[in-house]
Amino acid sequence: MRLVKANFLVKEIRNKNPLKVLVRAYSDDEIVPNLLRGVDYVRHPRLNKGLAFSFEERQVLGIHGLLAGTVKTQEEQIAICKYSLNRYKNPLNKHLYLAELLDTNEKLFYELMSTDVEKYLPLVYTPTVGLVCQRFGLVYKRPRGLFITLHDKGKIRGILRNWPETHVRAICFTDGERILGLGDLGAYGMGIPIGKLCLYTALAGVPPAHCLPITLDVGTNNQMLLEDPMYIGIREKRATGDSYDEFIEEFMEACVNQYTHSILLQFEDFALANATRLLDRYKNCYCTFNDDIQGTASVVVAGMFAACRITKKKLKDNIYLFLGAGSAGVGIANLVCDAMVEEGISMEEAVKKIYMFDAGGLLSTKRQGGVPPHATKFGRDMEPTKDFGSLVGSLKVTCLVGASTVGGAFTSAILQQMGKNTERPQIYALSNPTVKAECTPQQAYDATEGRCIYASGSPFPPVKFGGKTYHTGQGNNSYVFPGIALGVILCHAHHVPDSMFLTAAKTLAKCVTQKDLDLGRIYPHLNEVRVISSKIAVSIINRAFNEGLAGIYPKPENVEDFVQKYMYNSKYVDYLPDRYDYPCGDSKIKVKTMEELMASLTKKTKKGRCK
Ligand code: NAI
Repeated sequence: MRLVKANFLVKEIRNKNPLKVLVRAYSDDEIVPNLLRGVDYVRHPRLNKGLAFSFEERQVLGIHGLLAGTVKTQEEQIAICKYSLNRYKNPLNKHLYLAELLDTNEKLFYELMSTDVEKYLPLVYTPTVGLVCQRFGLVYKRPRGLFITLHDKGKIRGILRNWPETHVRAICFTDGERILGLGDLGAYGMGIPIGKLCLYTALAGVPPAHCLPITLDVGTNNQMLLEDPMYIGIREKRATGDSYDEFIEEFMEACVNQYTHSILLQFEDFALANATRLLDRYKNCYCTFNDDIQGTASVVVAGMFAACRITKKKLKDNIYLFLGAGSAGVGIANLVCDAMVEEGISMEEAVKKIYMFDAGGLLSTKRQGGVPPHATKFGRDMEPTKDFGSLVGSLKVTCLVGASTVGGAFTSAILQQMGKNTERPQIYALSNPTVKAECTPQQAYDATEGRCIYASGSPFPPVKFGGKTYHTGQGNNSYVFPGIALGVILCHAHHVPDSMFLTAAKTLAKCVTQKDLDLGRIYPHLNEVRVISSKIAVSIINRAFNEGLAGIYPKPENVEDFVQKYMYNSKYVDYLPDRYDYPCGDSKIKVKTMEELMASLTKKTKKGRCK
């Protein structure tokens, strides 16, 4: 328990009541129950338990009668939620139901999520969050994050102060320019940081009060939105150049000034040029990372590590060909190189094992227009070509990575060639949503006589091949970013270097069991993600201490315990004050009556006067 200043609920009460309300304490994720009375317990989503308040609690808190005359357990409430959810057919409606639940009963929402992460994750995050962002003007009801617009330049710190939580430890922010595969959605992009931070809590147990979603509204170039009467952002074309850069600079500084240097700042869904440029600019001076670039890389490299157990080869024994050299592709390629260097080859040798191909063809230094600046490291001194298929054969590729947004780009001829190149070809078809995947798992299995090792970005139904059923894995960033964030937050790391993403990849790969591999997946089951997150957090904390990046001292004796104690618990707590027997003293001691006391005092006084 820590002593803290008033939270907004208490402020509210102070305003109404001139008596000073003493805020005694407030554990990291809960407001201590006996500070508040009455209707606040029912109204505040962090405190509300719905019909799960016991009759004793209702009487002590003065809310008896506000609730129906029955008490339900959290399990019974969850069963009702599941029944209600099942009645909705449309994923957007399911999402809205869940959002409403989060707004009224936070613990119930997170407890429900924990019962089946694989089922609820797609409703809270991709793909449903894409629909939510597109209709954000319609679904927007109450503040669940901060909007900071270009017109707030010079006043950003003041806006951060308006956020009612005092213990923010992580901020996820977007400028809305590249929302998933949907392009520029401007202020409608807010659904993304809200969703990502929701996963911080659901998948890694970071308390909700520690998370702050922010949209930096710098305008939009989406003409449809500018003309849309429901649009909620500023109606201006996107800021660029110095005006944009100064705004981002002020924002980063304001966050650190408001929440100290260990505030974790996660860039999310920025367009390629800004994403790579800003990450390069800030990653060594702020505690920051970009999940699209570094989180993706970590999860894919984890899959490659797990695949090594099948191929009996090391990463450095492969030849990699990437279709797509954007944020995801180049991020993955960079981390694969780091991993190969750890295996004992030089960076120069590692880079030579990687070939990249984008909309302009092979990344060749001789091609017209050259190699894009964020990918210069991977420019090859080769004749330019736009024939991706023939490269697969001529380079004897053993690992094919798709991050191109081109659905079906891995044709069956390409996949068959992969089957000829090596016994166990690796195929990563990462593009989202499902229709944009470079190939389906079924296509990959069919074309390689079931010998391929496959992972996708989107979930796919099981594959049937040779009388067996395989459940291929999803290279979902959710396996890593919440755990990395948990570790970074807990050890107050100054920075989030690339080495942490490699550490997370290794930890995740170790969580893959032989049973997973036999089923055809190089990732664990998503329902285990909370345990995986805590393991990743432990490895991140250890790494931070080893590299001198931790901001706490001394290192906790038991890092596992340290992580577990912090993690959010979505089970309800009892709001009744602690009650216990209190001894009335030793009954054998004879206590004087008041008369006896007075008589003895009078005697003493008289004696004094005689003298
Ligand atoms: P991006 O826009 O930064 O890059 C796309 C790349 O694909 C560019 O290099 C572009 O030149 C290339 N490309 C486009 N058309 C092409 C064509 N016809 N032939 C060859 N290359 C072509 O996008 P980003 O962020 O790199 O994402 C790419 C895809 O990866 C998206 O579909 C995204 O959903 C997916 N992704 C999946 C993740 C996962 O599964 N964990 C994580 C991040 C992204």
